[in-house]
Amino acid sequence: MRLADRTRHLTPFKVVDFIQAAVELQAQGRDIVRMAIGEPGFATAGPIVESAKQALAEGKTFYTPPCGIPELRQAIADYYQQRYGLTIDPQRIIVTTGSSAALGMICDLLLNPSDGLLMSDPGYPCNPNFVRRLDAEPQFVPVDPSGNYQLTAELVASHWQDNTVGVMVASPSNPTGEIISRDNLAALYREVSDRGGNLIVDEIYHGLTYGNEPVASILEITDGAFVVNSFSKYFGMTGWRLGWMVIPEGLTDTINVVAQNFYISSPSVAQYAALAAFEPETISILEQHRDEFKKRRDFLVPALRELGFGVSHVPEGAFYVYADVQAFTDDCEAFCWHLLYEHGVACTPGTDFGHHRANHHVRFAYTEPLDRLKLGVERIRQALSQVA
Ligand SMILES: Cc1ncc(COP(=O)(O)O)c(C=O)c1O
Repeated sequence: MRLADRTRHLTPFKVVDFIQAAVELQAQGRDIVRMAIGEPGFATAGPIVESAKQALAEGKTFYTPPCGIPELRQAIADYYQQRYGLTIDPQRIIVTTGSSAALGMICDLLLNPSDGLLMSDPGYPCNPNFVRRLDAEPQFVPVDPSGNYQLTAELVASHWQDNTVGVMVASPSNPTGEIISRDNLAALYREVSDRGGNLIVDEIYHGLTYGNEPVASILEITDGAFVVNSFSKYFGMTGWRLGWMVIPEGLTDTINVVAQNFYISSPSVAQYAALAAFEPETISILEQHRDEFKKRRDFLVPALRELGFGVSHVPEGAFYVYADVQAFTDDCEAFCWHLLYEHGVACTPGTDFGHHRANHHVRFAYTEPLDRLKLGVERIRQALSQVA
């Protein structure tokens, strides 16, 4: 069958193959420690579920306005006020079908065919595909532990090309969990805007950070950037498919046309459910989850280091450790398949996240409880002792 050329340029999400294989092994009765999937293992917080039940009982199952129900846009604005001390006009807040839809719509808004968008390598695997879908060009910038695996103003300056129109970053990032400091974020914005480009900041892992200082939002620095966020990670609502973006003033009518055409609206029940996401009772549950993630990180990083994995810096956010496996292998995919089939541990090969030294990396997600992570580490210890 004749398919559009772009279908050949889209790259698969390798982690899905590992998750699928893990599910099949579990169905055969194998116990698998699942450190591959990027979603919190906690059930959605009770008040959110109750709010959804109420919405269903009240028949709130119809299309909503394309940019989201006004109550939720206001609730998100209030959250920015409480959490960051920022006043954001709810008109600039657009509710989306997961942050995936936000990423796609921002690309729709900014990219013409052949335009380039700079992004880090390694980075979130879907980002290049949002760009390729528009026949535009993902432009990869290799990053490494010396710069916390993040783009800087200097890297942007040295990789900017004639067709580059913007930069996409995530802080904290997937797969590394590393953040961009406030100063670096400000310098990045200056560099991009001086070049007439746009900056997109994915803040989907905000809330899941473990340092003493809150991670800076680009909104504290400027109203001129595009911000992506989601109910998936901190709010624990992956399957509800709900996210949001904050866009610069004056673009709401344009994005409204994009949203109404491509999505009509985001899921209505999920939107009413999410109204409870900002209630103090919910936030206190989510903060307990965050504390639990921190404990897991504080166990996993030293445990992996002790086994010989390279983790140069303790990641400050998200729920990932991006570990250097060069001491064990030059082929991270074979390494991950071996860990899965022979030792019952699922993790994600670095090749899912780009090309730069990808074969020498594996991403471990600490989304399973601490006792399961301890079991996973013991199994990895065994695997490595057999190789040695
Ligand atoms: C950095 C990053 N951005 C965006 C997404 C998309 O998430 P969702 O569409 O569930 O909001 C993910 C999912 O893992 C992610 O890691």
